[in-house]
Amino acid sequence: MSLRLGDTAPNFTAQTTEGEINFYDFIGDGWGILFSHPADFTPVCTTELGKTALLQEEFAKRNVKVLAVSIDPLDKHFKWRKDINETQGCSVGFPIIADADRNVATLYDMIHPNASATATVRSLFVIGPDKLVKLMIIYPASTGRNFYEVLRVVDSLQLTAGYSVATPADWKSGEDVIVVPAVSTEDAIKKFPKGVKVVKPYLRYTPQPNL
Ligand code: BEZ
Repeated sequence: MSLRLGDTAPNFTAQTTEGEINFYDFIGDGWGILFSHPADFTPVCTTELGKTALLQEEFAKRNVKVLAVSIDPLDKHFKWRKDINETQGCSVGFPIIADADRNVATLYDMIHPNASATATVRSLFVIGPDKLVKLMIIYPASTGRNFYEVLRVVDSLQLTAGYSVATPADWKSGEDVIVVPAVSTEDAIKKFPKGVKVVKPYLRYTPQPNL
């Protein structure tokens, strides 16, 4: 059965470049990102892990722990990590799981047989502090992910978890947000003291409430 949004993220224990990790313990009370790669020593994956390493401070600011998965063994990961650091000008500090037995890939349905019988596709899961799946994005092997988009969604998830708002198309942190339909305009005016702009009865904006 594949995972769906709102499902409990499966826990696991795995060997990683940072030692044995229990996923739930690793995330603790914060947020987690688990993302898979087709294979070590492949060009797109090299840029993706490098970009993630360069954005490590941004993930840390948001209390997000990052964990990469590849079905290659640890000794390959260590050699590849050196290449990533050298070619991408970074220092990979997050763990890379050696999922040789495909336990994690199977739990998270990361192998899509019609894309490849053996390699994982580019799956990315955002897991909340409640250990529920908040975001799933799946890219083909030939397309590197946009990690600014991942950060943008995390900003939206963290904001909307605490306030009765949603974020509009292309929203970026700092921009106005949308009052959710479940809140009446009368209540919205009380809830959001920075003001509510009513464009249509169902389309109401307010300044980002957590700034
Ligand atoms: C890559 O990571 O570069 C890659 C992996 C599999 C197919 C195509 C590209």
